[in-house]
Amino acid sequence: VSTHEVWVDLSASRERRYPVRVGPDALMSLARDLPRWAPAHTYALISDRTVMPRHGEKLAGELRGGGHRVETFTIPSGEEHKTRAEWARLTDAMLARELGRDTAVLALGGGVVGDMAGFAAATFMRGLPVVQLPTTLLAMVDASVGGKTGVDTAAGKNLVGAFHPPRAVVADTRLLDSLPEDQLRSGLAEAIKHGLIADADYLEWTETAFPRIIAGDDEARSALVARSVEIKAGVVSRDEREGGERKILNFGHTVGHAVEAVTGYSMLHGCAVGIGMVVEAEVGERLGVTEPGVTRRIREVLAGAGLPHTLPADVDPERVLAAARSDKKSRQGLVEYALLRRVGSADPGEDGRWSRPVPESLVREALGALGPLGSPGGARIAP
Ligand SMILES: NC(=O)c1ccc[n+]([C@@H]2O[C@H](COP(=O)([O-])OP(=O)(O)OC[C@H]3O[C@@H](n4cnc5c(N)ncnc54)[C@H](O)[C@@H]3O)[C@@H](O)[C@H]2O)c1
Ligand SMILES: [Zn+2]
Repeated sequence: VSTHEVWVDLSASRERRYPVRVGPDALMSLARDLPRWAPAHTYALISDRTVMPRHGEKLAGELRGGGHRVETFTIPSGEEHKTRAEWARLTDAMLARELGRDTAVLALGGGVVGDMAGFAAATFMRGLPVVQLPTTLLAMVDASVGGKTGVDTAAGKNLVGAFHPPRAVVADTRLLDSLPEDQLRSGLAEAIKHGLIADADYLEWTETAFPRIIAGDDEARSALVARSVEIKAGVVSRDEREGGERKILNFGHTVGHAVEAVTGYSMLHGCAVGIGMVVEAEVGERLGVTEPGVTRRIREVLAGAGLPHTLPADVDPERVLAAARSDKKSRQGLVEYALLRRVGSADPGEDGRWSRPVPESLVREALGALGPLGSPGGARIAP
């Protein structure tokens, strides 16, 4: 199986470019590449309680064998620990081990570790280099690329953070062998999103590849991660700070985040985003922005990936609307939505804003239209 290399070009930033290496055993050359990517006296290897024993200790051993000084730090697993309190504990532990400015951070884990270790790197001694080493499919196709880091607060997800692009990203698809299947499927939702916003052929290919990706085929996994990273890298290169085009990566996420919040984060991110994409496509169709039939197509693809494509019966649509209203992307009292034009193409909006303010009544209608797949229209909610 070949290794893919994709470059993220940030013409507006000092760091400018970083490589994303994807493939089985891609981590094996890390000891050799680190001095070039992020020369340091000490490497702070940060992971969580699930990943450190499975993959972190072995990697630390290999790096030490390659002549590097490595200090390991373990944070608790799970979104509920992506907090300022854990950030304080982590940076205190780094200070207690007397790490200085000549340290580089290695973030080994899913998106929670990537965001937390990335934020620690962004802030410790006013900024240390970070190399992202994603271990979930979601982190490989999405979270590890793009430079967003941060933590959650009581007021909402990811509200305190920093842009801190990595020096390099290494996605070793072999690490996915230990990932539970529902987590794999959650990552597929983001890959589906990449196809929907940018590449209809890729979307079709993902459908044929789902069974192989779930079954552990490294060729299919590497190809999926590499193409998704290419798409995300292209968007991020053109608009690093989300002034415009980067908003299309939020497709499905306004409703998706609301569903996550309403379910108390018990639903996996990708599942919530899948439902969000269906609702937001329906919104787009009702606005006349999205080509008719796109919603139905998205539901088919999600069903094929074993992902939910309708709101669970115990989730109150009014609570979803209320949660979406408090989303940070609202403008003039209306919530902003990134929408599709058709499969494989995002809607640029007006004046290149890449999103549109949508009246809540329309989102209510779209939520109400989500019956079982196969019944056109589905159950309507009284206005
Ligand atoms: N920065 C960004 O641009 C960006 C983009 C998307 C998502 N995110 C963030 O990513 C987070 C979600 O990421 P996630 O889905 O990877 O969740 P996660 O980091 O919580 O990982 C999911 C679970 O899998 C475990 N795990 C990780 N790798 C494993 C492996 N190889 N084998 C076995 N178990 C493993 C973890 O310990 C955890 O329990 C959210 O906090 C979200 O906000 C950030
Ligand atoms: Zn997402």
